[in-house]
Amino acid sequence: MAQPMIAPSILSADFARLADEAAAVHGSEWLHVDVMDAHFVPNLTLGLPVVKSLLAATDIPLDCHLMIDDPGRWAPPYAEAGAYNVTFHAEATDDPIAVAKDIRAAGARAGLSIKPNTPIEPYLEILKNFDTLLVMSVEPGFGGQSFIDAVLDKARAVRRLVDSGELNLVVEIDGGINADTITAAAEAGVDCFVAGSAVYNTDDPAAAVASLRAAAAA
Ligand code: DX5
Ligand code: ZN
Repeated sequence: MAQPMIAPSILSADFARLADEAAAVHGSEWLHVDVMDAHFVPNLTLGLPVVKSLLAATDIPLDCHLMIDDPGRWAPPYAEAGAYNVTFHAEATDDPIAVAKDIRAAGARAGLSIKPNTPIEPYLEILKNFDTLLVMSVEPGFGGQSFIDAVLDKARAVRRLVDSGELNLVVEIDGGINADTITAAAEAGVDCFVAGSAVYNTDDPAAAVASLRAAAAA
């Protein structure tokens, strides 16, 4: 497998200093941006205007994780704005393939995310329409929660399909990733690791990224 990818989550950063906080994780493969609408999840964060400002402030590809209702309406503008990856939730739409097509047509990679209690089996058939599968390892909504290791079976199932050539996508995991949990996720076949508090609640976020990447590669 290729080198592990680390996507620091700016949810744990200082929102008044986002440009500096992006610069603080230079060397990261992706910068994870949690968009929450206070409907799909019980929390509110940021939206398109802030994403546009971030796009102008950093060269790190933005990995936008939309925890919102009605992604068919709201997701494509993130792609049009220049986000690298636009991920929405399977639970939030009846037509995930249409949303993926619109995201790709607008120039971004399309990602599908599933909550910890959402099974993967009903979605295996449609994953060929996606570039990323984001497996949630906490209930979406807040940083700093504990890792739910039962979700790793979903990562393993999709890893098998990628390794056998049936699928071609990045397996990403989000929630509770730290020095203690990243090894199990890496062993399950995860390619890209989102980490919020484990990166930003440290004195040296860039060093935290490097050490998480080394732990995942070990
Ligand atoms: C939670 C978000 C995560 C969050 C992860 O809903 O999707 O991206 O920032 O934070 P940690 O790494 O602290 O669990
Ligand atoms: Zn996220």
